[in-house]
Amino acid sequence: MLVEPRSWRSPQSVPYQKPPSECSALELAAFHALAVESGEVSAVGLEEKIQAAHRLIFSVHSRPLTGIAAVKNPLDSYRAKISRKAGVALPKTEWPFELGWVFVAPAARENGLSKRLVACALHGLVANIFATARTDNDGMLRVLRRFDFLPYGADYESEETPGARIQIFKRAAPSS
Ligand SMILES: CC(C)(COP(=O)(O)OP(=O)(O)OC[C@H]1O[C@@H](n2cnc3c(N)ncnc32)[C@H](O)[C@@H]1OP(=O)(O)O)[C@@H](O)C(=O)NCCC(=O)NCCS
Repeated sequence: MLVEPRSWRSPQSVPYQKPPSECSALELAAFHALAVESGEVSAVGLEEKIQAAHRLIFSVHSRPLTGIAAVKNPLDSYRAKISRKAGVALPKTEWPFELGWVFVAPAARENGLSKRLVACALHGLVANIFATARTDNDGMLRVLRRFDFLPYGADYESEETPGARIQIFKRAAPSS
């Protein structure tokens, strides 16, 4: 009998990205469903926020979708709120985009997928971008560090997770 070695992994998926305006209704619905499943975002107004994103990143062309990420156009109100809490400036003219909605389904984790999603999100992006992460989210912190995101400002208390702290990270546009 053939026994798969313990290190066996399914073939690695290749993420792809699109602006929301070019996504099919099925893609948008699958993205929305996985974002809600993450438990990291409020479903209120999520459809509109997804539609307003700069790019959406999908783990695979086929289904089921196992991972997502986005280059978001953050709302001014959100930008102002986190700037105030962290004690730093995040003007839209200088920091137009936010990397967000990075989520990998539990069964697909620790197989490098979030790194492939973030690489795809940043591919060809010639703009400054920021992100936020909980200070106890070791996996996400490693991903951000790997892609040259640096801590920016003071950490602040999470509204969603009592007791947790949030840190802003920023990454300057690659010089062309
Ligand atoms: C955080 C998350 C996106 C990581 O996804 P993933 O596909 O499992 O991560 P990867 O396999 O690409 O690993 C990325 C790095 O983090 C490390 N890592 C992954 N999970 C980890 C964990 N639970 N604890 C510590 N390190 C971890 C990996 O070893 C790897 O490190 P390396 O680059 O030095 O090799 C995933 O756990 C997740 O979706 N979590 C819930 C949603 C979330 O927290 N999103 C971020 C919101 S800011």
